[in-house]
Amino acid sequence: MTGRATGGRYSERPARQTDGRAGTLQEVAEAPGGQPVWSEVDRYIEDLLLGPDPALDSATAASAAAGLPAIAVAPNQGKLLQLLVRASGARSILEIGTLGGYSTIWMARALPPAGRLVSLEMDPWHAEIARRNVAVAGLSEVVEVRVGPALAALEAMVAAGEGPFDLVFVDADKEHNADYLDWSLRLTAPGSLVVVDNVVRGGAVLQEASTDSAVIGTRRLFERLSAEPHLSATAVQTVGSKGHDGFVIAVVGGPA
Ligand SMILES: C[S@@+](CC[C@H](N)C(=O)[O-])C[C@H]1O[C@@H](n2cnc3c(N)ncnc32)[C@H](O)[C@@H]1O
Repeated sequence: MTGRATGGRYSERPARQTDGRAGTLQEVAEAPGGQPVWSEVDRYIEDLLLGPDPALDSATAASAAAGLPAIAVAPNQGKLLQLLVRASGARSILEIGTLGGYSTIWMARALPPAGRLVSLEMDPWHAEIARRNVAVAGLSEVVEVRVGPALAALEAMVAAGEGPFDLVFVDADKEHNADYLDWSLRLTAPGSLVVVDNVVRGGAVLQEASTDSAVIGTRRLFERLSAEPHLSATAVQTVGSKGHDGFVIAVVGGPA
């Protein structure tokens, strides 16, 4: 669900428009019923079901003012993450990719008393802004932001015997998504949820010969998922203010 909003991210692969004519995904996005409508529908949903939220609005504004890229999840996607935390009864969350802490705040708010969220972020400036935003949201006691490359952090967590986490949200560099899945399996238990963002990439996930590291990493993730007997997974395509993308959701413990 990252920032992925517009042009340049759509493949040239033919898509089918609503009137039955073939067009590129870019053309579909720009056509009536495309991106402007997706964004407008997101606003409609947010107005009716989410409403204003001073801490989250402040996090978005502070992140922008600090020069962070606008690649956080959309508000309705943040709410989806929050609902997943609530519905699963998660007490511990691992997030890979913090940015300014926007998705962090959405999820941490749904934790029960004594719940905790560990978020991994490579960029010290992003981590600093995230900590400030988390503090404004009153969640400093719940959220720990760790700075450094996620792969090293995950290895250290396994070595230290951390976990199991009830929910893992993967939203960092896409090229390492399959590795993040492997580490997630070592840091979770049967019944834990794993959610991976940005797995459709405007349809570019279909491009077998892509040289884009994010596409290659996403395809590796799907191959890994399809071969993993200890997970039951699906993926859902989405359109909205962030364009055409999608997420993987998996439950640890194999097919039901
Ligand atoms: C898409 S943003 C995360 C957005 C955030 N989850 C949200 O929705 O509010 C990805 C973040 O992952 C961080 N990142 C990229 N590569 C990383 C790595 N190897 N290890 C840890 N963090 C990384 C980036 O610096 C960036 O802040």
